[in-house]
Amino acid sequence: EFAKIIAIDGPSGSGKSTVAKELARALGVLYIDTGAMFRALGFYADQQQIELVEGVDLTNFLNSIKMDYGVSSTCLIRINGVDLTEKIREHHVSKLASIISQLPSVRKYLLDFQRSLAMNKVCVMEGRDIGTVVFPNSFCKFFITASVDIRAERRLKQLQQSGDNSVTLEQIKDDVRKRDETDMNRVVAPLKKADDAMLLDTTELDINNIINILSNEVKFRA
Ligand code: C5P
Repeated sequence: EFAKIIAIDGPSGSGKSTVAKELARALGVLYIDTGAMFRALGFYADQQQIELVEGVDLTNFLNSIKMDYGVSSTCLIRINGVDLTEKIREHHVSKLASIISQLPSVRKYLLDFQRSLAMNKVCVMEGRDIGTVVFPNSFCKFFITASVDIRAERRLKQLQQSGDNSVTLEQIKDDVRKRDETDMNRVVAPLKKADDAMLLDTTELDINNIINILSNEVKFRA
């Protein structure tokens, strides 16, 4: 079984999506966004009127769905044939994703999904637990972070660009802190840096610098 994974983990708003996409492009390999999968499950479960609370049993739900992820298209995600690519970017979906990502049944489902998706591929896979749980043996791992302030500002800009003006900077900062807290303290696959991951703080760096540093490291470790 062959898979060559560049694992990129880090908290929300650290710039890891931008970095992961750009790195994949620079290296000419596939890009896989695992956050999109948690978002899609959260969104879809919510639409099915499933109440997403701690400890909810999603076995029936997970057995009733089929997820598709288009690796070679621009990150197309579908559940039961419904294209969710755009909808999962709305602000309220972050919260649904964060709740659903704490459930062991969901993590197991997506762990299997992510491993089989990456089989026989070379890719940059982005998430929270890629280097620690999903592909602990990947040859190259990065942990991307940045200050809470800058992460909140970036997120606000993103939302505004997508036409969403419903939240303030303070609300976003609060969200960022809360999401960090839950992501780092959940029982299953918490967000943490793998011992062999390279740590990169993007607070003061610009994207070209980061991509340079990362591509050099990939080539060095390959
Ligand atoms: O990366 P993104 O912000 O889109 O992820 C949404 C949520 O999904 C995160 O807040 C996190 O709780 C969860 N997630 C996760 N494990 C991953 C990717 C995302 O728990 N590998």
